[in-house]
Amino acid sequence: MVASVKLLIRDLAQLATPAGSAAPLRGAALRDVEVTRDAFVLCEDGRIVATGPMSAVPSVDGDVEELDGRGLSAIPGLVDCHTHACFAGDRVEEFSLRAGGASYEELHARGGGILSTVRATREAGDAGLAEALAEHVSWMLRAGTTTFEAKSGYGLDHDTELAQLRAVRDAGGVPTWLGAHTVPPEFADAGAEAYVDFLIYDVLAEAAEIAEAADVFLERGAFDAAQARHYLVACRDAGLALRLHGDQFTESGAIPLAIELGARSVDHLEATGPEGVAALAASDVVGVLLPASALFLNRPMPPARALVDAGAAVALATDMNPGSAFCESLPLVCSLAATQMSLAPEEALAACTVNAAHVLERADRKGRLAAGFDADVVLVAADDWRHLAYHLAGPVVHTVIAGGKVASTGSA
Ligand code: NIG
Ligand code: FE
Repeated sequence: MVASVKLLIRDLAQLATPAGSAAPLRGAALRDVEVTRDAFVLCEDGRIVATGPMSAVPSVDGDVEELDGRGLSAIPGLVDCHTHACFAGDRVEEFSLRAGGASYEELHARGGGILSTVRATREAGDAGLAEALAEHVSWMLRAGTTTFEAKSGYGLDHDTELAQLRAVRDAGGVPTWLGAHTVPPEFADAGAEAYVDFLIYDVLAEAAEIAEAADVFLERGAFDAAQARHYLVACRDAGLALRLHGDQFTESGAIPLAIELGARSVDHLEATGPEGVAALAASDVVGVLLPASALFLNRPMPPARALVDAGAAVALATDMNPGSAFCESLPLVCSLAATQMSLAPEEALAACTVNAAHVLERADRKGRLAAGFDADVVLVAADDWRHLAYHLAGPVVHTVIAGGKVASTGSA
């Protein structure tokens, strides 16, 4: 019999976890964080087997590795449910141009933007892409992300789209097929509809074997609502869950389409007005908010407070990508949520743990510190877990435990 691997994190100043077992959380439940002082977490074979106050720590037989939690606070491993981390190259040149006044949409229209990362990603080859992704994933892990989603969308051809999905899967991520990110140069003359047909007839069957969800960029200059519907319906018929990039620059029908098709999420929402807020709040679709992207592009923040107050289920994610959000840090995203979007630290925590796990259909084992959940734990370098959001870009991540093993030490 193989001996079990046990880890006891003891003497924690605090253990903080979204309360209860429901997902997604909305309304007042989003603020309901259970805090235990002088606490422990006991893990065995990659799962949490018990949590509680030190006064109730069970006696453990056999070999146990112990971690000293004095002065630290434990929160669930963070879940990043929206990234484009699988890319080659960078866009520092474009960043400089934008800093000097050029707009993201102008650069995109000139063949830069997403298409410049498409060129770099196509050229990288499988090994180059895996290496670039591994580097980005190591940044995310150091920042406390133990579960990540990553999209394709920088291949826009048969081979590179599938290579991206395989790379994400092989790196332990949750792959999302974003074939409909933008129209590639090969289809510039034939147009967006012809490209969507190509995606559906030539790529979908293989993409659906690797990806868990499909995503589309529904926006002026990318795909309109009719094209997005055509793509998403075919993807749904192939068994994929649905997500949308919507209302980033304009309200172009993403929220009604997401609701009509039973999508899991609609993401961005910087341009969403009161009607969209009300419609989303009355639906099961999660609004994924990406404040690092709004900050990076100097765009308005999404209406997070209005969404939460209206009863919407919201998640927070980085949108990590080389163009609109070169940022892997969910702790920074939590700071932006608190300082720019009027979310309480409790709401921010729920949004990037249990609700993000719900978007990835993993809320039964990710996003909470409770018996039976995966042993993914972040030790925050403070005796009050709210430093996660409070210490703006500070070294708040002390240790990251993934699957019951220490995966990263030292601050983010
Ligand atoms: O979510 N808006 C569309 N796609 C990404 C950006 C991709 C890029 O600029 O490379 C986003 O912001
Ligand atoms: Fe995105």
